[in-house]
Amino acid sequence: MNNDLNSIKTNFVQSLEKVKSEKDLEALRVNYLGKKGEITQIMQNIKNLPKEEKPIVGKEANQLRSFIDSELKEARNKLEQDRINSNLEKEKIDVTLPGKDQNVGGLHPLNKVINELEDIFLGMGFTIEDGPEIEWTKYNFDYLNMPPEHSSRDLSESFYYSTDEGKEIVLRTQTSPVQIRVLQKKGVPLRIVSPGRVFRADDIDATHSPVFHQIEGLVVDKNITMGDLKGTLELFAKKLFGEDIKTRFRPHQFYFTEPSAEMDVSCFNCGGKGCNVCGGTGWIEMLGCGMVHPNVLEAVGIDSSEYSGFAFGAGLDRIAMLKYGINDLRLLFENDIRFLKQFA
Ligand code: DAH
Repeated sequence: MNNDLNSIKTNFVQSLEKVKSEKDLEALRVNYLGKKGEITQIMQNIKNLPKEEKPIVGKEANQLRSFIDSELKEARNKLEQDRINSNLEKEKIDVTLPGKDQNVGGLHPLNKVINELEDIFLGMGFTIEDGPEIEWTKYNFDYLNMPPEHSSRDLSESFYYSTDEGKEIVLRTQTSPVQIRVLQKKGVPLRIVSPGRVFRADDIDATHSPVFHQIEGLVVDKNITMGDLKGTLELFAKKLFGEDIKTRFRPHQFYFTEPSAEMDVSCFNCGGKGCNVCGGTGWIEMLGCGMVHPNVLEAVGIDSSEYSGFAFGAGLDRIAMLKYGINDLRLLFENDIRFLKQFA
């Protein structure tokens, strides 16, 4: 081989061994194969050689060029592979490391109870309705057949927004005004429940709070009887507390129902023997109920000789307390995370 070519090859091989990076490699390529590279220059010089040398040097230079080219490619591949391997090494994920703690929230015990009750009543063909918490006194009291002298109308018992004659606004003291709103909006027949917040100026002890929750129920249709009321509410009690639960109805008085009753359930804790959950009586007071008073139906223009219905109202906070063994109503409203976490 031509002496020049020979030493170029030796130099190239030595330089290649020293290459550490892709940058070094590129510089090496430029040195040999670039526009002013050694090989390129030799190729360009061939035209100046004596005629008989041209084909020999040309052939050898070509061979050297492909040798250098393939050596460079091989070195580049190797450097690339090294880079990929070292990146993989650096970015390795240790799947055995402990995970980051995710703070997953949970439903408030009251919302759990509301969801459960809604499911039960949806299963019996009821729909869920909503009503305003800020209510006209007309809806909260008058349409519900409550007499003008009723004590709950007292300024000291309810939260009034305005006491102007004829346009009194009150924080609703019960969910019962939803009965009126839904009857007006949807007419009959009707089968609804409506859970929600109610307000009374009342916080004497651990079982009373100025804000608490009720669920209202209303069924109006032709031929609705006390039998429908009992059948529905008994089924409700069994679904909520279990198949073995017994119910009893005691006469009571509400203005918007006649006759009216309160329903007790046998104590799910002691089975009726008497314990501290039921106060030793074996029974737990669950809800108020009754046959919708004709005055209520007539007040919203429904013919009470054609239609009849039953209604009920239950305290949701009490149900939550019974279900989860909570002994102070105020825990439900204090948002203490240590309390709430237990239900997540
Ligand atoms: N609104 C009543 C209360 O707050 C509860 C109630 C009793 C609702 C009887 C009713 C019912 O719909 O029929 O004490």
